[in-house]
Amino acid sequence: MHEMYEFETPRIKRDLEPEELLQVILDYAAKIANERNLDNVLSLMADMGKVIVVADRCTVWLLDSQRNELWTKVAHGVTELRIPVGAGLAGHSIATGQPVFIDDAYSDVEYRDVLMSGALKTDLQTGYRTKALMVIPFRNNEGEIMGCYQAVNKMTPSQVFSDKDLRNLTLAASYSGKSIESAMLAEEIEETQKEIIFTMGEIGESRSKETGNHVKRVAEYSYVLALALGLSQSEAELLKMASPMHDIGKVAIPDSVLKKPGKLTDEEYDIMKTHTDIGYNLLKNSKRKILKTAAIVAEQHHEKWNGKGYPRGLHGEEIHIFGRITGIADVFDALASDRVYKKAWELDRILNLFKEERGHHFDPNVVDAFMDSLPKILDIRDRYADHMLEAQ
Ligand code: C2E
Ligand code: SIN
Ligand code: SIN
Ligand code: SIN
Ligand code: FE
Ligand code: FE
Repeated sequence: MHEMYEFETPRIKRDLEPEELLQVILDYAAKIANERNLDNVLSLMADMGKVIVVADRCTVWLLDSQRNELWTKVAHGVTELRIPVGAGLAGHSIATGQPVFIDDAYSDVEYRDVLMSGALKTDLQTGYRTKALMVIPFRNNEGEIMGCYQAVNKMTPSQVFSDKDLRNLTLAASYSGKSIESAMLAEEIEETQKEIIFTMGEIGESRSKETGNHVKRVAEYSYVLALALGLSQSEAELLKMASPMHDIGKVAIPDSVLKKPGKLTDEEYDIMKTHTDIGYNLLKNSKRKILKTAAIVAEQHHEKWNGKGYPRGLHGEEIHIFGRITGIADVFDALASDRVYKKAWELDRILNLFKEERGHHFDPNVVDAFMDSLPKILDIRDRYADHMLEAQ
């Protein structure tokens, strides 16, 4: 139904038939429901509004109450636009909570001042000729006004927006509030989660005095391997966010073990191994997808394909693919770096170990993906190299 969106071109000058309208709304609703990126949601909303009411332009304005401004990312041809809440019809509609219709901006008396501070002023700067205008506020789930739809210039012969347009755009607007809010919430949650995870990962890292960028490199290696193994982009991104937490359980390991310069005794190694269960228990109760994933990785990154790993001795595909991926990424990084207990290994020695351990310690497919991705892996190693290590 892509041709429908061609209605945005000025040469098409009729209202949509009811079944076309329905199709447009269904098409856009499906796209919007699948979209988590706020800018894309706003852009789809604006396009939908424009097609529904056959406007020349349509803008979705959002209220930034802290700055007392309206902003939009989708004024066509502009990247981000901000206007004071006091200026223009959009601000007026948001302040009153009422929709506004204007048939001809240049002869309108009632909204003259408002228009002079908004659309007409903009026209002077741009040479655009605003005639018909329609602004409809929309609300969030709490019923607070969060923004408005602004449609400019009706492209049918009547050149004015109708009551039907108002109803249809109101429908789109009521839907907008909810979609925008969930996209904003999703962005905020994701940002918060990323922050928590990196902070926690860094705590684990600093406690163990592991080299500065260990957490970052393991995240990047895991991401590259996930994609090379055919996991989806979103799974790869999920793993990239979760894998920095793999050693979070080391926060609970005593310094005498964690920072021991030499080889661990059997008892000390048993203590060390508990970092997997400790990490899992720290993270397992979260309902957040990223933290749930991190719990799996923390628990399983020392499992081995042949069942000789810890803490559970899982075999083969009993080990979650995220655990198998982070496991090899972690060993590669441990071997390629200096540790308190060992010097870094030469690359050839590491690759020989991986070939020997293919099908033993490591999933053969993951080793193959590692070998295929070697240029990318080495690029990450070099980009996130540890420069100077103190206290080692
Ligand atoms: P880590 O330093 O991050 O090492 C992660 C994994 O890399 C190790 O898991 C092991 O599979 C691999 N690895 C690291 N160094 C070597 C090595 O020299 N040879 C071989 N073949 N593999 C190596 P693992 O063994 O379960 O160890 C878990 C964690 O326990 C290590 O994390 C490290 O923090 C600690 N650890 C292990 N051995 C020693 C040790 O001898 N002394 C000290 N101080 N800590 C150790
Ligand atoms: C408005 O007048 O409602 C919005 C501001 C503008 O178009 O410049
Ligand atoms: C807009 O679409 O950004 C407002 C229309 C105008 O500039 O007059
Ligand atoms: C071990 O596997 O026993 C300890 C890890 C190492 O080789 O340093
Ligand atoms: Fe570990
Ligand atoms: Fe590690």
